[in-house]
Amino acid sequence: MIQLSERHEMRQQARHWRARGERIGLVPTMGNLHQGHLKLVEELSNHVDRLVVSVFVNPLQFGPSEDYESYPRTLADDLRALAGYPVDAVFAPSAEQMYPRGAPATTIDLPALTNTLCGADRPGHFAGVALVVAKLFNIVEPDAAAFGNKDYQQLQVIRRLVQDLDYPVEILGVATVREADGLALSSRNNYLDAEQRRVAAELYATLQEMVAELRAGRRDYQQLEAAGATRLRQAGFSRVDYLAIRRSDDLAAPSPADTELVCLGAAQVGAARLIDNIAVRLI
Ligand code: PAJ
Repeated sequence: MIQLSERHEMRQQARHWRARGERIGLVPTMGNLHQGHLKLVEELSNHVDRLVVSVFVNPLQFGPSEDYESYPRTLADDLRALAGYPVDAVFAPSAEQMYPRGAPATTIDLPALTNTLCGADRPGHFAGVALVVAKLFNIVEPDAAAFGNKDYQQLQVIRRLVQDLDYPVEILGVATVREADGLALSSRNNYLDAEQRRVAAELYATLQEMVAELRAGRRDYQQLEAAGATRLRQAGFSRVDYLAIRRSDDLAAPSPADTELVCLGAAQVGAARLIDNIAVRLI
């Protein structure tokens, strides 16, 4: 496993592999790797010959009052974790390497997908994600890239970006890895104390309950959303940013006839803003 921090080195290495006819996969991350990230690596490795993991805490996707400075940077641990996996290269550039001229003059905006849910609470966040992922695609030129279903809106943004801009990249969505009580693995879970950690598990339990109600035939989406938000507040979440039932492909509000849905939630407990979702196909 080689470690690269310069864009030109990464590009050269990837082109070398491609010239030999090898298929290249990319797993973009912000590091502080856990089993969720490692699942992406494991799954994508079945589809490619060479695997690149990028580790970059992208300043563009953090709001001014968010945790960019304090976001855990644990590259030495990350490299150790990846050593047990079929990873060929770790691309870990500095912010100066990725943004040599400071904030880019270009923006990539997908307002139809990002004016809502997390995008409504975090203005500019998905534009920052889209821009850095586009740059990573341009540097590595992967044949395939893996993203977690856990960040459902992000995954839809990437899928649409690839379609709209004709990136020749196959996007693999990977199932969410969870703790035994259902809490989705996240770097931000480290911010929780024991009591907050207990509260945190209620997010997935609440989404499961909403899915069960949908499967039982309920289509009064707004009542279901409101009941779920109440449950989260009673469980101890200090703020519920949203609890929503949406169409799974375009995240629009569903009609009672829609069958491909996703229940999504974002809520604050302690210093952690947690997100989770469950996609559901009604038959
Ligand atoms: P990060 O939060 O580090 O996540 C990297 C990838 O791991 C994302 O695709 C995310 O959906 C996936 N992931 C996180 N937790 C997971 C879990 N419990 N189960 C399965 N997959 C999980 O998401 C980002 O970084 C950034 O926005 C990035 C795409 C790298 C752009 O900067």
